[in-house]
Amino acid sequence: MATSAEGAVAILGSGLIGQSWAMLFAGGGFQVKLYDIEQQQITNALENIRKQMKLLEQSGSLKGTLSVDQQLSLISGCSNIAEAVEGAMHIQECVPENLELKKKVFAQLDGIVDDRAILSSSSSCLLPSKLFAGLIHVKQCIVAHPVNPPYYVPLVELVPHPETAPATIDRTHVLMKKIGQSPVRLLREIDGFVLNRLQYAIISEAWRLVEEGIVSPGDLDLVMSDGLGMRYAFIGPLETMHLNAEGMASYCDRYSEGMKRVLRTFGPIPEFAGATVEKVNQAMCRKVPDDPGHLAARRQWRDDCLMRLAKLKSQVQPQ
Ligand code: NAI
Repeated sequence: MATSAEGAVAILGSGLIGQSWAMLFAGGGFQVKLYDIEQQQITNALENIRKQMKLLEQSGSLKGTLSVDQQLSLISGCSNIAEAVEGAMHIQECVPENLELKKKVFAQLDGIVDDRAILSSSSSCLLPSKLFAGLIHVKQCIVAHPVNPPYYVPLVELVPHPETAPATIDRTHVLMKKIGQSPVRLLREIDGFVLNRLQYAIISEAWRLVEEGIVSPGDLDLVMSDGLGMRYAFIGPLETMHLNAEGMASYCDRYSEGMKRVLRTFGPIPEFAGATVEKVNQAMCRKVPDDPGHLAARRQWRDDCLMRLAKLKSQVQPQ
C-alpha cells in the first residue's frame, strides 16, 4: 500500500457506508485501512470499491486530485482491529446500527487508542451520550453521520457527546471539508439529529395528506421532486423565506399569520399502518415494483441523478 502525506484513517465495518467513507478518504489523499470481522466481506468491499472507482473515473466523477490507481493504492483491508487503528488520526466506525454492538466496538477502541485519534461513529440515530457513555477517551468521540449515498450527498452531521472536546469537533469539521464533504455542527445532541427530524416532519405531513385523501401518493412525491426539492438542492428553507420576500423580517411580517394558521391544522403523528400503507405501497409498486431487481435499478438511477446534481452544484457553487 502507498503511504500518504495526509495521514491514516481506519474504517471499522466495510459495508455500504464503510466503503463510501473509504472512497472519500482515499479521494482526499488519506491512507485507509478497512477493517471488518468478516474476511470475505473485506475482500468483497475492496473489489466493489475498485469497480465503483473505475466507473467514477470513466464518468469524470472521481473526487480528489489523485488518479484512480493512486487512490486505490491508498486503501487496504485489515482483519485485526489493533493493526487497523495503529497510527490512525481518525477512526470511522461503520458497524450495523445496534447500540450494544457499537458500544462494544468503542469499548474495544478505548483500550487501544492514544489521546490523539478521533473516534467517530457513522450512527444514523444513536445518541452520543448513549454510544460513548463511560469511555476514557470520550473527549475524542463524536458522531459523524453521513447521508446515503455519501459520495454524492456531501452532508455530514457532527453530533458531540456533552464531554466531546471542542478540538475534536473542529478537527472533524476540517477533515470532512478536506475530503469534500459538507459538515454541519449540532451544538448539542437531539434525537433524530437535524436531517431526520426535518425528514420525519415532511414524511409525517405527506402521510396525513395522502391518508386524508387530499392528494394521491404520486402527486405528493411530485410536489417535492418537481417543487420544493428543486430549490432545496441549492438553498434551504430559511434562505427560501429570506428570498421570497424583501428579507427575513419582511417574510415573517407578511406570512407568519398564514403559516401559523396552516400549521394549526396539522394532524397528530400518523400510525404508518393499516389501509394507508396498502394505498401508498400500491402506488409506489406501480411506479417501482418492490422486487430486488427493480429496486436496485431505481436506486442506481437515483444515484446517477445525484451524481449529475453534485457536478452541477460544484459548477454553480465554487467551493
Ligand atoms: P452494513 O450492514 O452494510 O455494513 C456493516 C458492516 O459491519 C458489515 O460489513 C459487517 O460485517 C461489519 N461488522 C459487523 N460487526 C462488526 C464489528 N464488530 N467490527 C467490525 N465490523 C463489523 O451497514 P451500513 O449500511 O454500512 O451502516 C453502517 C452504519 O452507518 C450504521 O450505523 C448505519 O446506521 C449508518 N448509516 C447508514 C446509512 C445507510 O443508508 N445505509 C446512512 C447513514 C449512516
